[in-house]
This record gives sequence, C-alpha cells and structure tokens, in this order.
Amino acid sequence: MNLGKTVLITGASTGLGLAIARALMKTNYRVYLTARQSSLPRFEMHEVRESERVRIRPLDVTSLEQRNAIVAEAERDSGGIDILINNAGITYRAVVEHVAEDEWIAQMDVNFRSPMELIRLVLPRMRQKGAGRIITVSSVGGMMAMPTMAAYSASKFALEGAHESLWYEVRPWGIKVTLLQPGFIDSEGFQKVRYTPRSSRSEQELGDPYHQHYVNMAPFIARLMKSSRATPDSVARVVLKTMRRRNPPLRVPATFDAFAFSLLRRILPRSTYHWLLYKMLPKVAAWGPSPRRASLPSTIRQDD
Ligand SMILES: NC(=O)c1ccc[n+]([C@@H]2O[C@H](COP(=O)([O-])OP(=O)(O)OC[C@H]3O[C@@H](n4cnc5c(N)ncnc54)[C@H](OP(=O)(O)O)[C@@H]3O)[C@@H](O)[C@H]2O)c1
Repeated sequence: MNLGKTVLITGASTGLGLAIARALMKTNYRVYLTARQSSLPRFEMHEVRESERVRIRPLDVTSLEQRNAIVAEAERDSGGIDILINNAGITYRAVVEHVAEDEWIAQMDVNFRSPMELIRLVLPRMRQKGAGRIITVSSVGGMMAMPTMAAYSASKFALEGAHESLWYEVRPWGIKVTLLQPGFIDSEGFQKVRYTPRSSRSEQELGDPYHQHYVNMAPFIARLMKSSRATPDSVARVVLKTMRRRNPPLRVPATFDAFAFSLLRRILPRSTYHWLLYKMLPKVAAWGPSPRRASLPSTIRQDD
C-alpha cells in the first residue's frame, strides 16, 4: 500500500475532530487519531478502528509526556508529522468577573499553550524536510468576542496572534500555517460548555447582577447553533480541502457566518461594528442594573 503523508489530529473522538477523523480515514494519509485516554473507547463506539494506516493513541494535549511520546513515535515509524491538526478545545461560559485565576489558566492551557507546544515539537522535523502543514482550529470567537465568552475568545485570539507570527517565521521552509475559523456549527459542542462556580450561581440566581447576561446569551447561542447549516461534516470537508491546497491562506473561514462576520469586521468602522453587535444582543436593554438599583448610591449597591 502506498502510504501518504502523516497526519496527527487532537481531540478526535467527538464533534468536529471525529468528523475530520472519518474524512481522513477515506484518504491514503497515514493518520494518528488522538484523544484523552478516558475518551478512547468512543472510537470503538463509532466504529473507528486501527488499520495499517490508522493509529489510535492517547493524547491529553496538556501532558508533556504524552506529547513527546506521540511525536517520537511518528518520527520513529514514519519520518515525523507532516500535517498537524490542532482541534482539541474547551469552552468556558462566564463573564470576566466570574472567571477565577485557575479557570483562565485552564482555558488557555488547553486551547492555546498546548497546541503551541505541539507545534514547537513538530517544527524541527518539518524544517528539516522543508515542508509541513499546521492547521489549527480557531473560531469566529477568535475574530470577534461575545459577552460571557471572554476566556474562550482570549484563547482563540491568542492562537490567532501566535499563528500570524508563525506564518511569517516558517514560510522560508515552505511550512504552511492555517487558522480554520468555524462559526456556529449544528453540533453538540456548546452543550459541553463549562460554567465556573460563579457563572453557574449567577445563572441560577434571579437577583445576581449578571443573571440576564447568562439567561439570554445561553439560549441565543444554542439557537444560532441549531439554525446553522454548517455541520461537523461540512467543516471537516473544508479542513480536507485546505490540506490539499497548494497555498492555503493564513485564515480560512469555515462556515458562511464566519465569512460574513470577517467581512463585516473589515468593512465597518470599528465603533459602528461594536454598536451594531451590542444592539443585536438578546434583550440587552434588560441587562445590568435595574432602574431602581442603578439610582441607589454605589455604597449601598452591595451586589456590584
Ligand atoms: N462547535 C462549534 O460551534 C465550534 C465553533 C467554532 C470553533 N469550534 C472549535 O472546534 C474545535 C472542536 O470543537 P467541537 O465543537 O467538536 O467540540 P467538542 O465535541 O467538545 O470537541 C472538543 C474535543 O477536544 C477534546 N479535548 C478537550 N480537552 C482536551 C485535552 N486536554 N486533551 C485532548 N483533547 C481534549 C475533547 O475530548 P474529551 O471528550 O476527552 O474532553 C473533545 O474531543 C474546538 O477547538 C472548538 O473551539 C467549535
């Protein structure tokens, strides 16, 4: 069998990762499908199995030991990773005031620090070969930030900045760097959003200053996802197409809304853009202080 290039994908046991994994299995690439140890049984559940070309390996992206092990195995057995797909990610839902220090760190650790560390591991071999591709799943949240999504957006904005630098840095070796930007996908993804203890409490408590932010944003986002025509499979097709493009651009909007938002952001003056988006927030007039609470002197507004 003529084995093609070697691809490694993270977080491949669910959602978009699983859809990309399935699409990769129909190619002649040699593929490393990875997921956290506890999620590996999902591959069998979805009838995704090892073969001559497909290896299933544990990889918690935050684990230095597991990152080293998988990259070493690929270098030993197939000359190294030719295409790295950073897909694994987590999402916190919380306003800035409700994200504690360890939660900022956890969000950045999975979505930003770990993919950058994987990239650092695969680059030396790619430079030696004078070829390679890095495809990292960013998000519309990496070009525009929504209320209650600060930590998530911060992690994706960080990826965007780091990959922009990387694009210039590794171009002399012919290494192609792409940020894939999906918008809303009709998937389970946002059902897995994590609440912080404070954001969870605020969503439950009617009198909490940020209560309206949560009770309006959560169903708003769920509706946008449900009504989206994009699916994990349609986004996976964009990934495969990007892998095959001779000169993929740095940023690839992967859904129609991502394309529309990037266009809006480019053509509208920034202040108009932010004003428009603020006005589009669900029931935003009811957010924040009620008229009575707002008129009280700040010293007796104890909940602020
Ligand atoms: N769904 C959307 O609408 C949307 C929109 C824009 C961008 N994205 C991005 O698309 C990517 C995939 O998201 P999804 O929608 O497919 O969500 P998902 O189903 O929750 O998939 C996320 C994957 O990341 C894995 N993961 C989490 N922490 C990990 C860790 N420490 N090490 C290894 N894997 C880890 C999860 O594995 P476990 O099950 O083991 O936790 C899961 O397989 C993410 O980067 C996300 O930010 C999604």
